[in-house]
Amino acid sequence: MVTRAIVRGVGHYLPARVVENAEFEATLETSDEWIRSRSGIERRHLAGEGETTADMAIRAARAALDDAGLAPDEVDAIILATSTADLTFPSAATMVQAGLGMTRGFAFDVQAVCAGFVFALANANAMIATGMARRVLVIGAESFSRIMDWTDRGTCVLFGDGAGALLLEAGAGAGGSDDRGVLAIDLHSDGRHKDILYVDGGTSTGMTGHLRMQGKEVFRHAVEKLADTAHAALDKAGLSGADVDWLVPHQANLRIIKATAQRMQLPMERVIVTVQDHGNTSAASIPLALSVGKAEGRIRPGDLVVTEAIGGGLAWGAVVLRW
Ligand SMILES: CC(C)(COP(=O)(O)OP(=O)(O)OC[C@H]1O[C@@H](n2cnc3c(N)ncnc32)[C@H](O)[C@@H]1OP(=O)(O)O)[C@@H](O)C(=O)NCCC(=O)NCCS
Repeated sequence: MVTRAIVRGVGHYLPARVVENAEFEATLETSDEWIRSRSGIERRHLAGEGETTADMAIRAARAALDDAGLAPDEVDAIILATSTADLTFPSAATMVQAGLGMTRGFAFDVQAVCAGFVFALANANAMIATGMARRVLVIGAESFSRIMDWTDRGTCVLFGDGAGALLLEAGAGAGGSDDRGVLAIDLHSDGRHKDILYVDGGTSTGMTGHLRMQGKEVFRHAVEKLADTAHAALDKAGLSGADVDWLVPHQANLRIIKATAQRMQLPMERVIVTVQDHGNTSAASIPLALSVGKAEGRIRPGDLVVTEAIGGGLAWGAVVLRW
């Protein structure tokens, strides 16, 4: 017998303000057609004035708790993946803990940019497997709108804001790939690629800064690395692409998603795609897609789900789990 981290609840939150591609035509030399054809993005949600990353995370966490039928104090830990915490410290996770009215347990942030949710899931899984925590809220929440250079058409049209959350709970498994819960994880980073995707601010500059990206370079790494890490995670679980019910990729660009699915020999009918409605919400994109996939009745108990993501660092990885 082994201890598995099993999904008990899922939820998400999207800010009310929706910005369609065409709105950018007023301020930038761009077009709905360009954005749609190069990225698959049609619209994105942007946080309202004063609406913070922690605010969105709290809404998503409440939805996941409701879905699980649990109260905040029945949770042992909160792990929040974000690169857009509201303050340098304390962590956004502790703000969420307070916002939920949770008076026990512990909370911390994980920062692996767009791969943040995969790294947070890996942390939660390790804590559950080793008995450090029984129930963990794993959240991805971002307000990338606050680190956009709104004059840079190569980046600002690609990102959006939002939050998603999973409630993971310890459960007994037989140790095989039929178990429910997290089955295998594959993580990587390579700090030599800092310059192709970074924010030009922080304590070294005294300013929050703006996202800078060499889009073509990031694209090249993504297409190469995402299918490889998904295959590696499947291998560790003793499974192959043919066993996958749902690929739930990081939602950055439809062309990257399609290329990865193709390299995994998965038809697009088995891929959850939300990038057209959300844009790239960085660490929030996978839990948002999981929540949407479940709400649409597509992801069901027993389904084999593979998630994968890559982001600044570079950092990348994949998680195989049975829902
Ligand atoms: C950013 C991205 C969509 C650009 O698509 P692309 O096909 O690589 O386009 P290019 O970079 O070749 O740019 C082509 C031209 O479009 C222009 N362009 C860039 N953004 C534009 C926009 N919003 N509207 C119109 N033109 C734009 C460029 O300036 C360039 O013009 P030039 O040839 O005169 O220099 C694509 O590279 C991408 O998605 N990269 C990965 C980004 C990503 O996923 N990042 C997050 C990872 S977590």
